[in-house]
Order: sequence, then structure tokens, then C-alpha cells
Amino acid sequence: MQNPFAYSNYVTGESFCNREKELSELLKYIKGSQNVLLYSHRRYGKSSLIHQAIRNIKGKKLNIDTMHVELYGTISEKDFITKTFQSLNQLESNLNKLLKSVSTALKNVKLNLSLDPATGATSVSPSFEAVNEKIFLEELMNILSKYSQKRKLVIAFDEFQEVANYSEEGFEKRLRSFIQQHSNICYIFSGSRQHLITEMFNSTKRAFYKLADSFPLDKIETKHYIPWVQNLFRKKNVHLDAESIEKIVARFENHPMYIQNFLFHLWEEPVKKGFSPETIKKIEYSIIEKRSPEHTVLWETLSINQKKTLKLILLNDGSNLFNADALKSVNLKTGSLVSKALSSLIKKEIIVKNGNYNIQDIIFKKWLKKTLSI
Ligand SMILES: Nc1ncnc2c1ncn2[C@@H]1O[C@H](COP(=O)(O)OP(=O)(O)OP(=O)(O)O)[C@@H](O)[C@H]1O
Ligand SMILES: [Mg+2]
Repeated sequence: MQNPFAYSNYVTGESFCNREKELSELLKYIKGSQNVLLYSHRRYGKSSLIHQAIRNIKGKKLNIDTMHVELYGTISEKDFITKTFQSLNQLESNLNKLLKSVSTALKNVKLNLSLDPATGATSVSPSFEAVNEKIFLEELMNILSKYSQKRKLVIAFDEFQEVANYSEEGFEKRLRSFIQQHSNICYIFSGSRQHLITEMFNSTKRAFYKLADSFPLDKIETKHYIPWVQNLFRKKNVHLDAESIEKIVARFENHPMYIQNFLFHLWEEPVKKGFSPETIKKIEYSIIEKRSPEHTVLWETLSINQKKTLKLILLNDGSNLFNADALKSVNLKTGSLVSKALSSLIKKEIIVKNGNYNIQDIIFKKWLKKTLSI
């Protein structure tokens, strides 16, 4: 049987663990055409949740059309428009029908047809010629509006924080003005650069202020992992007891991607009954080693006080960092140096403050412990 675990892209179906509560909450927003801001730390499963929700909508034949637009790597309004146009074939896979309905909504924009060599799917993109740029957004939004008059729509803009970096004047404002008129569309804005994306929607100065309800996505609970892992391993005739699964999940602090990464390798181990602590350690070690070059580079970009502060966090489990003895143990002279380092590490999203200070990426944390011999 093929390895059911995956960790380099979004997961759905049997590789998708639980998230029942989140799926049903998301569906309520979708059915009510309310916009949501879905955010979390990196690799917690935002894209997977969106794709699984889309899959469920299709599976249950809910009469809602779905569209997922991947904005990662887009750097301008033009890119945003092109990506969204290219995603229109998700609403209508029949090319002739798509062209017909799109063309009737277009007044000034001409279309180019292109063939995706990888999938063989045809998509449309606008031909950016001699037309005022602002027209493109308007006509694109008209298409969406027209579609939504016939059927409810859900449109997910994934990695939406990219929009904050576009340099076109007033883009967010113009986009908002269209979105606000779309009463039969649920827009899901999703992103992982937390401070960037939450600032876009929570700052009174920004165009997207309060345009969507906050939907923070947490890690997956241990009780949901247990039956999911057991079921998948049963397909290989391996019985894993609840306790070993709990240990694995705890080892990776419930982080969805790292748990899949670990389980992927565990699946490849030739064992029938349980796994030895050596096997577990060996796999963990190989995961840390694989990321080591990247973590070495990251470490080298940090200032000496940031490095000391990371060590301080590890030595003190993220609390009582300003205690005189604690400062002394890492040779930091004053608490203000720690404050400064903490705020830059938070900004870089290397650490998070959740009561205590914690290192966000669990594998980086393990690498640090190993490298600093903690
Ligand atoms: N519901 C889930 N069940 C099991 N594993 C999951 C689940 N959701 C996500 N994962 C794991 O996490 C990985 C990352 O998921 P995904 O790409 O959906 O996260 P993301 O939050 O969109 O990441 P990014 O921050 O890079 O956009 C997946 O490849 C998978 O290994
Ligand atoms: Mg994603």
C-alpha cells in the first residue's frame, strides 16, 4: 500500500486528520456568505483545511461553486488578476461555456487561452494591452459577481498577505469596494505571516479593516491523532497503541506537518508490532539533519544577543527570562538587551509569546538544543 502520509503540500481525504469542528464552522461561513480570515503559524494546515472543505462541498453536492487562488509569489496587481483569471476554470471546466460566460461580462479586456502542460487543463488569462490597469480588476470582479447571481460561491485567496506588498496605489481599497458588494460570495483570506495578515484586517487604517471574521487555526489535538494514525497503520497490519502515538505527537508538540513528516518515515520502517525507541530517535535525527543547512544559515543571520536570548529561552523553558541569574548564565548584561532581542525574534516569527516564550519551529528548537548542547 502506498504511504498515506505526506508533508510537502496540502493534504485531503485519508491523509487529512479530523478538523471536524473547523470544517463545520467554515461551512457555516460559506453557506452564510460571510468572509473569513483564516490564519495560523506556518504549516498548521490552512490550505489543507480549505481544500478539504472544497472537497466536502463537492462531495455533498451542496450547489456552491468553489475557487482556490494561490497568491504565493505574486508581486503586483497584475499578478493577482492573472492568477484569479486562471482560476476561473475551477468554476467552469467546460472551456466553451467558460469563455462564453466570461466574455459576456467583459467589455474592455481581451483574453488569451493557455494550456497547462502539466495538467492539460486550459485556462484563460487577460491580455494586458493598452487598457487602464484598474479596468482589469473591475471586469474580473464583474465576472465573479455575475457567477454569484446564479450560484453561491466560495473564493479562497490563499497566502493573501502577499497583497500587502503590492505597490499599486489603492489596490486594497479598490478590491474591498468590490468584495463588499458580493453578498452571495464567501471570501476566505488565508495567510501565515501572522503579523502581516492580522494587521491588514485589524488596523483601523487599513482597507480590509473588519472585512472578515477572524478564524485562527490551532494545532490538531492529540485525541484526534490517535484513531487517525491507528486506522492508517492498520492498513499495513501494524497495530500502534494509543500511548506510543501520544508520545510521538508530544515529541512534535502537535505540529501537523512535522507529525506527518515523522509518520511518513515511520511507515517505511519494516516492523509489525510497535516501534523501538531507537527507531523513533533515528527518524527524528534524520529530520533534524535534513533541515540542518537551512537552520545553520538562519543562526548565522542572528545577532549575538539574539543568539544568547534563544539560549536563555531554552535554558529556562521560556519563563523568568529577566531573572539576574538567568541573564548571567548566558552572559547578557541587562534585561533591556533581552527585551530588544525578544521583540526582533518575534518579528522574525522565530519565537512566539504565549504566556511563555517558545521557539516556533519545533525542528529548529531541536536543532538548537543539539547544537548548543542543551
Ligand atoms: N488536517 C490535517 N491532518 C494531518 N496533517 C495535516 C493536516 N493539515 C495539515 N497537515 C500537515 O501539514 C502540512 C502543511 O499543511 P498545509 O500546507 O495545509 O499548511 P498551511 O498552513 O497552508 O502551510 P503554509 O503556512 O505553508 O501555507 C501538510 O503537508 C500535512 O503534512
Ligand atoms: Mg498554505
